[in-house]
Amino acid sequence: MAAVDLEQRPRRLRTTPAIRRLVSEHRLHAADLVLPMFVKEGIETPIDLTTMPGVRQHTLDSLVAAAKEAVAAGVGGLMLFGIPSLRDAEGSQADAPDGILNRAISALAEAVGDETVIMADLCLDEFTDHGHCGVLDDAGVVDNDATLERYASMALAQARAGASVLGLSGMMDGQVAHVRAALDAYGFIDVVILAYAAKFSSAFYGPFREAVESQLKGDRRTYQQDAANGREAGREVRLDIEQGADIVMVKPGMPYLDVLADISAHVDVPVWSYQISGEYAMIELAAAAGAIERWPAIIESLLGFKRAGADVILTYWATEVAQSLTGGT
Ligand code: PBG
Repeated sequence: MAAVDLEQRPRRLRTTPAIRRLVSEHRLHAADLVLPMFVKEGIETPIDLTTMPGVRQHTLDSLVAAAKEAVAAGVGGLMLFGIPSLRDAEGSQADAPDGILNRAISALAEAVGDETVIMADLCLDEFTDHGHCGVLDDAGVVDNDATLERYASMALAQARAGASVLGLSGMMDGQVAHVRAALDAYGFIDVVILAYAAKFSSAFYGPFREAVESQLKGDRRTYQQDAANGREAGREVRLDIEQGADIVMVKPGMPYLDVLADISAHVDVPVWSYQISGEYAMIELAAAAGAIERWPAIIESLLGFKRAGADVILTYWATEVAQSLTGGT
């Protein structure tokens, strides 16, 4: 049959793997991936998480081993979360120098600090016995301004332990300015603030709550953003940049790619996103059930972040994906 006279044939650029690779608009690179890691106090062997197949609560030793593996694969950085044995109303283990998170920061700084970037979650929820991201007032409501003092103290503990990026994920008003001032006052002028600027109250944090053994009853709707509000995310980002955020984050990722695309088109600091626990679990569990093909789904999900403008993606698949990349895919 004679060819139809078509002026445009977009399929021409899809005919072979080689041409598809050549015209690819976005590529994944190991250095753009950050691995979130969990370390638990007082355990002898790592504990596998049931809702996040392939992710574990580490001992200090297994944490260092997994960090070395991630660094060897070329990941851009490591983001640490701690699970303390002891929790109280103030979250006192968060800023105790020998608290599990701070000890883990030191261990990683010593083991791989010269080769990668050590980051820590700066939030109280893993450390409080009520599970909220801040301290509570007499009425049981999260006390924004009292929490800022706790964050400042936590920031200093993490900086002293050797973290070079602090992930402020608590969504308190003024937290970036307050932490910046505390860091600067003690000479930590080069410690970077990664502001989880647009962090939404999300059902997709579910598996993370298992990972950190969250004590939370209720929700975080008085401080995390409402899923309905995109414009408000722009305000949160603006405020954090005004307060000195070096990097801003949109979180979760996949349900908020519109917000990510909007922010990344409008700001002049790096914009990162976090492919959170529930996003990971959805793909792993759907693949385990035979509903979707695991690897293409993982890569497709990460390319979505790239298309939306993420410079860096925090993902629990960071090591595995980094290992699979030879100079970009
Ligand atoms: C707060 C924090 C959370 C996550 C990262 N930092 C939990 C929350 O806000 O409830 C979630 C990460 C994930 O779900 O993978 N410490």
